[in-house]
Amino acid sequence: MEIEVFFLRLLSSLALPYCLASSALPPSSFLSSSLPLSLSPYQLRYELIGRNSERKADHLRICLDEDVQFDQTTSGLERYRFTHCCLPELDLNDIDLTTSFLGKRLSAPLLISSMTGGTEQAKTINFRLAAAAQQYQLAMGVGSQRVAVEKPEVASTFAVRSVAPDILLFANLGAVQLNYRYGLDECCKVVDLLEADGLILHLNPLQECVQTRGDTNFRGLLEKITTLCEKLPVPVIAKEVGNGISAAIAEKLIAAGVAAIDVAGAGGTSWARVESERANDPRQRRLGATFTDWGLPTAECITAIRAVAPDIPLIASGGLRNGLDAAKAIALGADLAGMAMPFLQAAHESETAIHALVEILIAEITTTLFCTGNATLTDLRQSRALQLIRQNFGLSTPDFSE
Ligand SMILES: Cc1cc2nc3c(=O)[nH]c(=O)nc-3n(C[C@H](O)[C@H](O)[C@H](O)COP(=O)(O)O)c2cc1C
Repeated sequence: MEIEVFFLRLLSSLALPYCLASSALPPSSFLSSSLPLSLSPYQLRYELIGRNSERKADHLRICLDEDVQFDQTTSGLERYRFTHCCLPELDLNDIDLTTSFLGKRLSAPLLISSMTGGTEQAKTINFRLAAAAQQYQLAMGVGSQRVAVEKPEVASTFAVRSVAPDILLFANLGAVQLNYRYGLDECCKVVDLLEADGLILHLNPLQECVQTRGDTNFRGLLEKITTLCEKLPVPVIAKEVGNGISAAIAEKLIAAGVAAIDVAGAGGTSWARVESERANDPRQRRLGATFTDWGLPTAECITAIRAVAPDIPLIASGGLRNGLDAAKAIALGADLAGMAMPFLQAAHESETAIHALVEILIAEITTTLFCTGNATLTDLRQSRALQLIRQNFGLSTPDFSE
């Protein structure tokens, strides 16, 4: 994609109508072989930009219509069980789920994970989710804003601040774009568009491998992330997209200056599977199918990262499907629990469905605290009420040094 984007930029930078800029075009053999060679520069620009919007539309359609969950690999949270407390000595009404993350207060430790933007359907989803996040004081991320950089006319599909003035809101870009001519300017642009509190940089090497014409040059990215962390005026958060972040990589990212990590581990939505469904090419379809179950389970990522980085603000996501999963992730050491697919399904249905989802998630987390005898999230984390179910059905507390 690098050459395509370069010539797009070149065309955009020339203060000439696109049709007059044809001499700036590269020999057609330089361009991706799948692009129709008969396109005018003007058509070419819209062909390339159109693919980004098309991709976002495909992602929504496939995630809503197909089974794109991991097949065998689970989040690992089912391996843990809370010790039930039959005498909590608490009033259920006194349970307090409030927390703060990167300096902002949340009424519950929930993040609506980064998903979408760039199309009318995406706009509806983003605005419904943002309004609910505002009402319940939850955190939210939007999907990759690359399409908004390349096609400013769709920027409004991301711009949810108008309906969510107070929430902890995250912008989003693929980290790999830093190797495809994105730099501080583009990062500032996507943050400003959202009036975001932070920028999520997603790391998605497997997805890019399976995606037809994916951006697969990840060389030298850590250094670019370091520079970005130094210069961007808001915190940078590193996130996977469902294949997990190991302790070793988390340490490197923390040393690079990221302010928080979202493990986005395996066990939920499989992006190898989504891209496999989307691909026309049998080779890419097979590649995605082979790697459907690839990745580090979410529970393993949380415990491994907490063992090496006790203080880093940590988001657990990837395969969390209810408030009990969220409470387990928090007991294991996460500060927030993120969910994508459950919120997508609810937002697709209606605003009422999002409210119902948030309320049951809050009820499930509250019930977990009550039935473990913990009044706050901090109490839950310190209680060691969560136990690993050994294969012989014995129980033991999690070993964070594993
Ligand atoms: C429709 C859809 C689009 C997504 N797009 C993005 C994206 O643009 N950027 C990103 O960082 N993650 C994206 N994700 C990944 C999620 O944020 C999340 O990491 C992943 O789906 C695992 O969470 P889940 O199992 O709760 O779905 C997307 C997820 C969905 C369902």
